[in-house]
Amino acid sequence: MKKSQDSNTLFDVESIRKDFPILSRSVNGKPLIYFDNAATSQTPQQVIDVIVDYYSNYNSNIHRGVHTLSQEATDKYEDARQITQKHFNALHSHEIVFTSGTTHSINLVANGFASLLTKSDTVLVSALEHHSNIVPWQMLCEKTKATLKVIPMTQDGALDMDAYDTLLLLNPKLVFVNHISNALGTINPIEEMIQKAHKVGAAILIDGAQACPHIKPDVQALDVDFYVTSGHKMCGPTGVGILYAKESWLHKLPPYQGGGEMISEVTFEETTYAGLPHKFEAGTPNICGGIAFGAAINYMNSIGFDTIASYEHELLEYATRKMNTIEGMKIYGPKENKTSVISFNIKGIHAYDLGTIIDKLGIAIRTGQHCAQPIMDFFGISGTARASFSFYNTKQEIDVFVEGIKRAAMMLH
Ligand code: ALA
Repeated sequence: MKKSQDSNTLFDVESIRKDFPILSRSVNGKPLIYFDNAATSQTPQQVIDVIVDYYSNYNSNIHRGVHTLSQEATDKYEDARQITQKHFNALHSHEIVFTSGTTHSINLVANGFASLLTKSDTVLVSALEHHSNIVPWQMLCEKTKATLKVIPMTQDGALDMDAYDTLLLLNPKLVFVNHISNALGTINPIEEMIQKAHKVGAAILIDGAQACPHIKPDVQALDVDFYVTSGHKMCGPTGVGILYAKESWLHKLPPYQGGGEMISEVTFEETTYAGLPHKFEAGTPNICGGIAFGAAINYMNSIGFDTIASYEHELLEYATRKMNTIEGMKIYGPKENKTSVISFNIKGIHAYDLGTIIDKLGIAIRTGQHCAQPIMDFFGISGTARASFSFYNTKQEIDVFVEGIKRAAMMLH
């Protein structure tokens, strides 16, 4: 691989960019600069081809038919499960449950705990969570009358680990925390948090939606009980994700939804459930999505997560340095231990107005609360503008972005 002018590493970003057809389109007459990767990553041709192949050649239902198409689809879907198992280093492929995404995965676990919690139980949530890792647990606590306690955050956008130690003295049954904050990019010390949770007998769920585009988690090394993520954050399609859970937990939790596929025997007197993971996969799943998710995992591994992380870190440092030269710039979140997410405001300018103007320049960022209102409340703001970089972005794009912010600021001041 030739050395990219964009990087000190051996990373040929221009050749990578050719894999992503969308990156050559224009928006509002300007070349697209896509900095909304934390919301949804873009899809390489290698994954698009898999989707087209599915619908062109073997679209059919899985696990149900004796016919050739159904068998081909079943094989590819189960191959994707094994690719996922290997990627996350799960002990068994049946510990990987396909879901519609992180939100579905969390709701599945929260629903399962309804029969395992009582009103004398406590559960811990971190202050850095996305709404999808808050609301399902609030609903669970409403049902069970268990108590929800919050692990607070600090001014620099990290979790307060002393407070975590104190809260663990309450002997919680469950802890839920994200691996990386979607709003700030904070990388949480999940290894330490998992070990400490286990010491007091708590189970722990890690929301990996923002981590998996950058890091390859090893669920066995982490010894995590539940790890959840979404395909569309890591070059796969929307509407598919996974729940990894230790086998023992999947046996303990009741099914989330009833229907076809998740049963062993059905009579009007009694139904018995299918084995793992099918007990949690009622109805026709997103078959094409699952297969394409497997292809996306293969694609990302072909580049390599160390390469991805180190290049993205370079982009983060470059962008942070340049953005900090803009008058009135305030960047939220930690200075270190973060991924390539920059959440910011410019004094006197509403994030929404900034986002709207730079869209006219072809630049896509996210603005608002980022589904993390408690973080915004903590900082006493209504929202931020958020630029999130992926391995297919470049320093030249960051230069255009920074000039775009300066132009927008001049117009809005
Ligand atoms: N959770 C996604 C984000 O952070 C949608 O933008």
